[in-house]
Amino acid sequence: MERGPPIDTAAYVSPPDTPATEGDKRRRRPRGLSGALATILILTAPTDYDAAAAGVAFGDVAPVLASRCIVCHSGSGAALGLRLDTLENLRKGSSRGPVVVAGDPAGSELIRRIKGDSQPRMPMTGPPYLSGEEIALLETWVKEGLAATGGNVEPLTRPAPPPVAGPVNYGHVAPIFATRCVKCHRDGGVMGAAPEGYVLNSYQATMSAVDRVRVVSGNPAASELLRRIRGQARPRMPLDGPPYLGDAEIALIEDWITRGARNSEGQAAAPPIGAKVRLHGSLRPGWLLDDLSLRITPRTRTDKSPAPGDYVQVRGRLGARGEVEVDRLRRR
Ligand code: HEC
Ligand code: HEC
Repeated sequence: MERGPPIDTAAYVSPPDTPATEGDKRRRRPRGLSGALATILILTAPTDYDAAAAGVAFGDVAPVLASRCIVCHSGSGAALGLRLDTLENLRKGSSRGPVVVAGDPAGSELIRRIKGDSQPRMPMTGPPYLSGEEIALLETWVKEGLAATGGNVEPLTRPAPPPVAGPVNYGHVAPIFATRCVKCHRDGGVMGAAPEGYVLNSYQATMSAVDRVRVVSGNPAASELLRRIRGQARPRMPLDGPPYLGDAEIALIEDWITRGARNSEGQAAAPPIGAKVRLHGSLRPGWLLDDLSLRITPRTRTDKSPAPGDYVQVRGRLGARGEVEVDRLRRR
């Protein structure tokens, strides 16, 4: 085997392919592969398998799946029922059907998701998404017909949760939302439209302030999401609990919000001053909603004479000091 020139991603993207039958695709030699790609495959392949002859195989894409996908796509709670931990499970697809079509990357939902042609883009934790090389490798694998490796591939195991180095970010909490919440909180989920219009399948949607904010950076007490998973606001989430989230999961999400509801790249969200909120909880003496300060003004409308101890709904806007300027306060 000749050594090729430096890595050329174009070699992955556009192999000069002629139409072939399914069987052809699995057996044929990868004519489109450059020497560079073949070299890479040799370097990463198990020694007993002739990578250059076999083209891209599951064993080559497995490390990408293991490190970026199976934290959400494995086990009984796998997002959308899609398990990417074995070739067999990957081929089974999600609750909506197959996600790969051998020989047809553009018609494969898995490829569409990692390229952002279907939304939300995968991995859900992104950005960062996959690199151009990783995307090209998966595309080539699908295009060449979803080859297995020579022998069996051990089921990929969910990597240990990354040690939380630095402040908690979206990458740490997203798997909880993916496996416990998104089945309902997406459009076209088990309840049809997302309940209350609240979609939890991306960072942007989770933080959205379009109708009102449910995650208030730096202010867990004003975050309806945290109130719901603690059960301070009813009905408690996830709605199909118990089991609800564990104490450690709730603490992680609280810490994420307290430290600025950072995205996966570690950037904190600005506190959405002036944004609308709608919160539920217990009214306490001194106009507190649990531990959140409420600012009552002459414009505040109150219904059904709420008194300390009552379970109430508060609608208002976020003030500059983390308090809520109340538009409406009603007993529930
Ligand atoms: C943090 C959790 C998480 C990670 C990591 C993640 N996903 Fe997903 N994935 C989801 C969720 C949640 C959905 C459902 C989103 C929706 O469509 O509303 C989904 C949907 C998908 C779908 C669509 C299935 C269908 O039938 O429509 C594919 C394909 C997919 N993911 C592939 C991947 C791949 C490949 C990776 C890794 C590169 C990945 N995912 C990483 C959570 C995740
Ligand atoms: C089985 C479906 C289901 C699951 C799973 C689920 N929810 Fe909900 N969620 C709902 C429904 C229905 C509502 C509206 C309930 C109401 O207030 O009457 C809701 C409301 C909410 C609200 C209030 C939205 C608003 O605009 O005030 C938040 C926040 C929320 N859910 C977060 C979550 C989180 C976080 C999870 C996962 C830990 C989760 N939900 C899991 C169905 C679900």
